Amino acid sequence: MRVLMTGAAGHIGSVLRERLAGRYDLLRLSDVVRMAPAGPGEEVVSAELSDISQVMTAMDGIDAVIHLGGIPGEDTWENILRSNIEGTYNVFEAARLNDARRIVFASSNHAVGFYRRDQVVDHLVAQRPDTRYGLSKAFGEDLASLYVDKHRFQVMCMRIGSFQAEPKDARQLATWMSYGDMTRLVATGLAAPDMGFAVVYGISRNTRAWWDNAHAYRLGYDPQDNAEDHADRLLAVEPPEAGGDVALALQGGIFPEMEFDGDLDAL
Ligand SMILES: NC(=O)c1ccc[n+]([C@@H]2O[C@H](COP(=O)([O-])OP(=O)(O)OC[C@H]3O[C@@H](n4cnc5c(N)ncnc54)[C@H](O)[C@@H]3O)[C@@H](O)[C@H]2O)c1
Repeated sequence: MRVLMTGAAGHIGSVLRERLAGRYDLLRLSDVVRMAPAGPGEEVVSAELSDISQVMTAMDGIDAVIHLGGIPGEDTWENILRSNIEGTYNVFEAARLNDARRIVFASSNHAVGFYRRDQVVDHLVAQRPDTRYGLSKAFGEDLASLYVDKHRFQVMCMRIGSFQAEPKDARQLATWMSYGDMTRLVATGLAAPDMGFAVVYGISRNTRAWWDNAHAYRLGYDPQDNAEDHADRLLAVEPPEAGGDVALALQGGIFPEMEFDGDLDAL
């Protein structure tokens, strides 16, 4: 399998580059920023995702894509539109034109960030994006659905929680995704047969998770880490987490609280 990874110079991309080395026939790494030169089994290409001709070049001869490239947080509409919405469209369309019909897409918990923390949500709940950023991830998931139904794609949309070497605050007791478990989930998304359109949560096996990840487990994901191992240390910090009433009530944390002038009681 010849695999293209977009956003390969970033935090998740660098960890996956190291941990996936040698597993596939080719790991082609693309980004707009500089990366270490290609090692054995690797190629490095520069591709601006909002330019489909550059994405087409990066996609040449590829079988499957790990799509991480984009802005990883809230930003202006112009920036989100260019990198996350146009960029993700270009990745799916270039994949279709190159017959690379399997994509593991870095979606986000912020596609569903307006659910309350006293709710457990699964892979079938309606999207509730909490920012322009979350909206771009909801768009990416809908794009995946279209390409699965219309063009026989297999797509795993990973609603990633908090990718960190170790969980950093109390919220991450629910949302943490360890380096090892991210590698396991991406490998699952590249291998699962007849996956179709799959929404999963990109989290470790966290005791306090708000997300029912049974669908990921059915596909073969077997996470080995649990943020609970860090609970005593994180809960001893004062305050245990940043944010006001809105952030602390809602799964998206400080993201739904940005620019918020809604009615928390009505949510
Ligand atoms: N890190 C997390 O906890 C987390 C949580 C949820 C979702 N995600 C998603 O996972 C993906 C990777 O996250 P990360 O933490 O590694 O972010 P990152 O910012 O470290 O990496 C993203 C990479 O994408 C590249 N990029 C951005 N815009 C681009 C464009 N227009 N064309 C080409 N390349 C472009 C950047 O240069 C960067 O190297 C992102 O899509 C992010 O939204 C991350």
